[in-house]
Amino acid sequence: MKVGILGVGNLASYLVQGAQKGGHAFVLSPRGVEKAAELAARFGCEVAESNQALVDECDHILVCLPAAEGEVILRGLVFRKGQVVCSAMAAKVKLEDLRLSVAPAEVTLSMMPGYANAFSVGPTFLYPKGSVWAEFFADCGPVHELPDAHSFETAVVFGAMSGASVFLMRHLAAWYEAEGLNPAVARSLVAETLRGNAEVFLQSDKSLDAICNGVGTPGGITEQMVSHLRQDGALESWHHAMTSILHRIAPDRKL
Ligand SMILES: NC(=O)c1ccc[n+]([C@@H]2O[C@H](COP(=O)([O-])OP(=O)(O)OC[C@H]3O[C@@H](n4cnc5c(N)ncnc54)[C@H](OP(=O)(O)O)[C@@H]3O)[C@@H](O)[C@H]2O)c1
Repeated sequence: MKVGILGVGNLASYLVQGAQKGGHAFVLSPRGVEKAAELAARFGCEVAESNQALVDECDHILVCLPAAEGEVILRGLVFRKGQVVCSAMAAKVKLEDLRLSVAPAEVTLSMMPGYANAFSVGPTFLYPKGSVWAEFFADCGPVHELPDAHSFETAVVFGAMSGASVFLMRHLAAWYEAEGLNPAVARSLVAETLRGNAEVFLQSDKSLDAICNGVGTPGGITEQMVSHLRQDGALESWHHAMTSILHRIAPDRKL
């Protein structure tokens, strides 16, 4: 695929890195010259003369623009039939609005964690199903195609959940450091523990409740820690925070 990327910031650089094994040719939008030049030098990408030149040159266009301005920027460009646009703009999940902005091109919506995609381990959620972009994102981690707008909007919350979990991981590592553990050991301890538990979720055939029951011994330290977290509202707080993100993404949704 020849993939044009509009908006060359952090996400674009993660995806270009993650998708390398696909052997795609990348054409980058010129704004953010330093990042575009760095990516061009590192991965052999082309830098377009303008956003419109990029759209004219590519059939596959990945939109990594700031969500607040993205739609206006897209409306200022001329697309043609046969092009397939993929939007990674987190908050902009209304398919109908984007369709109008890039008509007569087709549109797919996507959500991914970002940095994890650079290492080809970040999941990507796509809507609607059956897009050619599934093949592209498969090089950046597992791909899930969702059947309807409602489930896509719900899944999109994971972008914030993913980012917040990175902050949680840093917070946990900092605790071990403050208690005297070597920083590299603290970092590995947190990462390997959570990666191990993630594998349990992926590989065990037990229900999530059964897994939880199995990891906590009555009267043991897990029970004490979970009870403390519950008392402080720490677990419930994640629930409220995720609901607030869903409300931002889907303000019309009855919550
Ligand atoms: N970062 C992530 O991990 C992640 C994950 C999932 C989804 N997303 C979504 O992806 C989008 C990009 O996020 P990001 O973190 O990569 O943001 P970013 O680092 O700020 O990158 C956005 C880039 O778009 C450029 N830009 C702004 N207006 C432009 C225009 N008219 N033409 C061409 N380029 C223009 C910006 O240039 P200037 O710097 O010159 O303004 C900047 O280089 C957002 O909608 C975000 O919600 C990000």
